[in-house]
Amino acid sequence: MKKVLILNVSHSEVLLIKALKEMGHYVIGTGGLTGQPGEKFVDTFIQADYSDKEKMLKLAVDNNIDAICANCNDFGVISAAYVAEKLGLPGHDTYENALTLHHKDKFKVFAQKHNLCTPKAVWFEDIKKAKQWAETSANFPVIVKPVDLTGGKGVSRADNTPEAIAAIESAFKISRIKHIVIEDFIDGTQHAMCTFLINKKVAAVCSNNEYSFKNPFKVEIDTYPSDNEDIARDFLVGQIEKIAEILNLKDGIFHVQYRMKNSTPYIIEPMRRVLGNLYGITSSKLNGFNWDYFQAKAYLGESLDDFPKNTKSNGFVAHRSIMSKKNGIVENILIPKEIEKYVFDRFMMYHSGIEIHNYMNDNLGVLFFKFSSREEMNHIMLDQYDDIQVIMK
Ligand SMILES: Nc1ncnc2c1ncn2[C@@H]1O[C@H](COP(=O)(O)OP(=O)(O)O)[C@@H](O)[C@H]1O
Ligand SMILES: [Mg+2]
Repeated sequence: MKKVLILNVSHSEVLLIKALKEMGHYVIGTGGLTGQPGEKFVDTFIQADYSDKEKMLKLAVDNNIDAICANCNDFGVISAAYVAEKLGLPGHDTYENALTLHHKDKFKVFAQKHNLCTPKAVWFEDIKKAKQWAETSANFPVIVKPVDLTGGKGVSRADNTPEAIAAIESAFKISRIKHIVIEDFIDGTQHAMCTFLINKKVAAVCSNNEYSFKNPFKVEIDTYPSDNEDIARDFLVGQIEKIAEILNLKDGIFHVQYRMKNSTPYIIEPMRRVLGNLYGITSSKLNGFNWDYFQAKAYLGESLDDFPKNTKSNGFVAHRSIMSKKNGIVENILIPKEIEKYVFDRFMMYHSGIEIHNYMNDNLGVLFFKFSSREEMNHIMLDQYDDIQVIMK
């Protein structure tokens, strides 16, 4: 039995926590909030902010841990890499590599140097210089983003100089380290590819389409596999293995979001962590093995010899976050029977009377669906989108 620290206990870490418990380990959870869904599954919970890497190091030392698991957030990946490096723990990239992959400006520098297929970008630490660029050199439309946040926070599209100035101001305001990137807006469709690296080679692939209905920069529905998995796979696997080789990356999940334009997949951002919205439930259903279990083993530095070989995508699965259309008190969630019959699993944060403060970001729960064809999946998930309703008081 090992003593393992996991850096948050939200619904997004529940599968990882369960995998660790099933393996027989003693799990210490942390995180800024109490009362999160994963708290009841850990052996001990110590409230602390996982984005504070020095605090995480102290927690790790005080508790004499054997291994550390990142949570489903870029700050957590960076803190975990820092602690692992300081204490010589297994299963994490170097702190420098974690920053390169999770800070958007550092990734752009790296991508440019190594000719990766990612939208052309400029980056700024000085708001005046960013505004000057918007006034004199921008080629619209562009996307403006803080370099260090997730879930589309502070991200905007700008089609002209005044919009760019407003976007720059809001991105600078929200970025914790006060760095932003501005990149070419890539028209086209949005997707993601989750891979598992073993010895710097991709050992499994799971892909999906991404759809946003309420908030254009936050993914709300994923349908699996992606429309273009066959075209994207070889290209993206090549890009990912190139990154892994250059940076000497550790085993475990390597995920990219990409946008497909003229049959070219442009990498939007990489991530080395489990994905939000319990992605593991759908990816495990699609590929027939437990992604979280193998990620847990990677974090523990255990052998991955039992990782399944040559797995394929099988069937059509999807998940959807339940989001309301406005702030306020939620009375009920309506799911019509003809949609309900496709739901194979669910994880609800919702309870009657729950209050939504930020409807563009807050999830009331996640539904997981299984279909017999892509047509059926697209019909239920996209055409019938409005039939699942959040009723407000
Ligand atoms: N270059 C781009 N062209 C078009 N859309 C983009 C581009 N970059 C980001 N986006 C959109 O903004 C969203 C958030 O950007 P992303 O880089 O993924 O940041 P975050 O870390 O907040 O998820 C993406 O999911 C995508 O929909
Ligand atoms: Mg993203």
